[in-house]
Amino acid sequence: MKISIIGAGNVGSLSALRIAQEQLGEVILVDIVKGLAKGKAFDLEDSRSILRLNYNIKGSDDISAIADSDIVVITAGLPRKPGMTREDLLNKNSQILRQTAQAVKKLSPGAILIVVTNPLDLMTRLALEATGFKKEKVFGMGLTLDTSRFVSLIAGELNLAIGDIEAMVIGSHGEGMLPLARFTNIKGVALEELLNKERVDILIQKTVGRGAEVVSLLGSGSAYFAPSAAIAELVRVIVRDEKRTLGVSTYLNGEYGIRDLCIGVPCRLGKSGIEQIIELDLNEQEKDALLSCAARLREQCKAIKI
Ligand code: NAI
Ligand code: 2OP
Repeated sequence: MKISIIGAGNVGSLSALRIAQEQLGEVILVDIVKGLAKGKAFDLEDSRSILRLNYNIKGSDDISAIADSDIVVITAGLPRKPGMTREDLLNKNSQILRQTAQAVKKLSPGAILIVVTNPLDLMTRLALEATGFKKEKVFGMGLTLDTSRFVSLIAGELNLAIGDIEAMVIGSHGEGMLPLARFTNIKGVALEELLNKERVDILIQKTVGRGAEVVSLLGSGSAYFAPSAAIAELVRVIVRDEKRTLGVSTYLNGEYGIRDLCIGVPCRLGKSGIEQIIELDLNEQEKDALLSCAARLREQCKAIKI
């Protein structure tokens, strides 16, 4: 398997490390900044004898290095700065996305494309349009991270094992994120039975605000440890054809009453990408919240002429 990562910044290079160390395939790291990806690839290569792992990684500032990839991950773009919303990044990152997605189309027409650049759901929709790939082959990583954050906060609040918590988050990777308490359980016991509504609402707000909280604490740049773990998880599910159900931003064509938008919902993933979109039985309030999130995304799509 050839796995290419475009953007060798914090998220891209840490994803390369995780994917290489899990030995999921040959890793190619590319960045527009001269020497950056090659230097990071050399550094990662030099860890091999200490780790006693024989992975294969190359870096380049020439995008043609991604030719014939099986999986491409786009992390190229600007990260959020303190006080900046993901949507503020829209104009600059949409130019970068169009450019890199067109290169993927030309150089790796058979690849599965995972978009990471923010604003995530809009960039995923843009990548789908720019590549013209089938909708099953292009999706965005956002909810996998958000779900992990929700689980982590629940585990902290209830002092429980991470592995016993099954959480559900849908919506956009942004202000329209919807952590769903009704679909979240601890070994079959609903979250709402273990915590009162007030505490659940606080955990939901903390989950939605977690990315911004990390941004403001870091002072420069945004999160990269958990995002790169989420990217490596998606790559692993594809490479190993695991058929796991994870939240990703996917193109909806009538599912959940939404058309012609990419938005986060649970999907079954395997070697061919998205193998099934799972439609949860949402109640009226949950449906309304998802539709309002979709309406906001539709307005933003107009701003970047999708
Ligand atoms: P970073 O600034 O550390 O790295 C971005 C890299 O992209 C830089 O090295 C830059 O030179 C490179 N780049 C820019 N234009 C390029 C082009 N045309 N071709 C190749 N490389 C190019 O930023 P970081 O922290 O790695 O974040 C990257 C993106 O991922 C941001 O948009 C950030 O908001 C987003 N992100 C999304 C997450 C998600 O859950 N979807 C989580 C974390 C970050
Ligand atoms: C996050 O949620 C910045 O989207 C990124 O941390």
